[in-house]
Amino acid sequence: MNQITPPPRIDIIPSSAPFSDAQRSWLNGFFAGLLSPDPATPLSAEQGVAFLQGDAGDGDDGEAPWHDQTMPIAERMKLAEGRPLRRRMMAAMAQQDCGQCGYNCHDYSDAIAGKNEARLNLCVPGGKETARMLKSLYEELDKSPAAPSATRAAEPATVPPASDAKPGRSRDNPVAATFQSRRLLNKPGSEKETWHIEFDLSGCGLDYVVGDSFGIFAKNEIGHVDQIIALLGASHTTKVNGKTLREALIEDVSLSPAPDKLFELISFITGGAQREKARALAQGEDPDGDAATLDVMAALQKFSGVRPHPEAFVEALEPLQPRLYSISSSHLATPGKLSLTVDCVRYVIGKRKRLGLASTFLAERINPGDEVKVYVQKAHGFALPQDSKIPIIMVGPGTGVAPFRAFLLDRRATGATGKNWLFFGHQRSATDFFYSDELNGMKTAGLLTRLSLAWSRDGDKKFYVQDRMREVGRELWTWLAEGAHIYVCGDAKRMAKDVERALVDIVAQFGARSTDEAVSFVTELKKNGRFQQDVY
Ligand SMILES: Cc1cc2nc3c(=O)[nH]c(=O)nc-3n(C[C@H](O)[C@H](O)[C@H](O)COP(=O)(O)OP(=O)(O)OC[C@H]3O[C@@H](n4cnc5c(N)ncnc54)[C@H](O)[C@@H]3O)c2cc1C
Ligand SMILES: NC(=O)c1ccc[n+]([C@@H]2O[C@H](COP(=O)([O-])OP(=O)(O)OC[C@H]3O[C@@H](n4cnc5c(N)ncnc54)[C@H](OP(=O)(O)O)[C@@H]3O)[C@@H](O)[C@H]2O)c1
Repeated sequence: MNQITPPPRIDIIPSSAPFSDAQRSWLNGFFAGLLSPDPATPLSAEQGVAFLQGDAGDGDDGEAPWHDQTMPIAERMKLAEGRPLRRRMMAAMAQQDCGQCGYNCHDYSDAIAGKNEARLNLCVPGGKETARMLKSLYEELDKSPAAPSATRAAEPATVPPASDAKPGRSRDNPVAATFQSRRLLNKPGSEKETWHIEFDLSGCGLDYVVGDSFGIFAKNEIGHVDQIIALLGASHTTKVNGKTLREALIEDVSLSPAPDKLFELISFITGGAQREKARALAQGEDPDGDAATLDVMAALQKFSGVRPHPEAFVEALEPLQPRLYSISSSHLATPGKLSLTVDCVRYVIGKRKRLGLASTFLAERINPGDEVKVYVQKAHGFALPQDSKIPIIMVGPGTGVAPFRAFLLDRRATGATGKNWLFFGHQRSATDFFYSDELNGMKTAGLLTRLSLAWSRDGDKKFYVQDRMREVGRELWTWLAEGAHIYVCGDAKRMAKDVERALVDIVAQFGARSTDEAVSFVTELKKNGRFQQDVY
């Protein structure tokens, strides 16, 4: 293939045009390419097609053996050794394709390598490890003689979806939705706290399709913020970037975990052993074995005599990131309404209670009528089959049931005739059977053809959804052989892998295949869009 020169970067799209930063950047690159005065290096049709298919012509085979959300980052980086930078950047991502960054893992890394995306901290599940790795790869990008290749390679693959520019369709352009109500889904005695949350979208005019997720911009808790202000020895009315310090800490910055830049700042304003420790922490080391527990408040407590200036302090913190939730309602069934199924994150480290930002915001810090900044994150590859006669098998333990409630409500609203089978599981049947009345009602009405349940803490031994799947493997195989689509939603780290393993075993046993053939069968299901996952 010919060497392809990147188009010059000029700003053709005005900053006032209704596009997100990512879109504007891509469009500028696109038009610059069209208007390029250098006709010596036009794209051949073959190169154009390769571009659009994501083959950068940089010798990479396009395979991503590291694309496994359960693989540790060191292993992923090892598998990506010797690959172009954009591919190593992809290996640094958490591999969940969860959409929280606004892209999938492939497109986010291409956008960074192409310098169309400057934010290196958007991979929420990858946390600090991913952000650090991206930072070091980004430094390589500028030094690398192959930088133009990495830059050029990214552009066609990172076309932001056309919907990005519309209000409420991306994290860069949220709108205000009205919080309507919350209802606890667990019964007394449960170890879990899971809420059915409802929003009214009629004011903002947003709609969605089942399978999409909802992005929520939450706010930090005021009590927590005031404790941090006290540790700084500051006044909450101190002005920072045109806001009070309290407002900035509530609305703009993440208070967990403590970022490297905060430790850097602390190292600049202290000395001796403290300084060494702060420096080590800033470099990802763990001098006292407590790095994983250090949120912003714990960091200030650890270096208790050190009082950064409020302005420098706020600058050292990461921006507050939105959180995504699978939508558990159907816009076709209840236009203008949207619901979520949210597990509340609370835990204790040492003597202090820690609160998950968005889940506790939804569970206790907003009141009916309050407006919340939100957006709809379009699902990529997680949707009902277009043919409404196709049977579906849904595996969704815990909050993983959310999109499947939406699928069922949608199929009921559209009169879809395809069979529906739900595998739901949770800790205890008596306290954790979410939506039991609704689901049992759907079963009685015939909408839910089968409902298979698995309670992990009812008996002496753990029993999970995949154990139930194995028990009914023959029927499950029959559904697959009839062309059913299968879906998995919920925990990415353990459940999704285990469910996939069970599926492979079922295909091997009841489909009379070797394990290798069964693995290929499941891979084909994925390629054909018949096995879809939404895991987090
Ligand atoms: C596409 C997608 C769909 C999702 N759908 C849903 C859904 O339908 N329902 C749902 O509930 N969630 C869903 N999530 C997860 C959700 O986005 C949030 O990650 C989750 O609610 C936690 O966010 P938070 O802000 O409350 O907690 P955060 O402030 O983000 O805190 C969570 C972090 O706290 C730490 N932590 C948690 N527990 C402990 C512990 N015991 N000990 C030590 N540290 C701990 C971990 O580092 C964890 O990452 C989804 C995620 C994605 C990407
Ligand atoms: N990374 C973690 O350690 C961890 C742990 C819990 C939850 N989470 C996260 O917490 C959020 C909400 O969780 P949730 O309320 O939806 O439910 P959940 O805590 O994921 O639990 C739902 C059900 O799944 C069971 N389960 C546990 N391990 C499993 C496995 N390997 N295969 C199949 N089922 C398994 C649980 O059983 P038991 O709990 O009885 O084993 C429970 O019955 C999710 O984001 C989830 O990823 C993460």
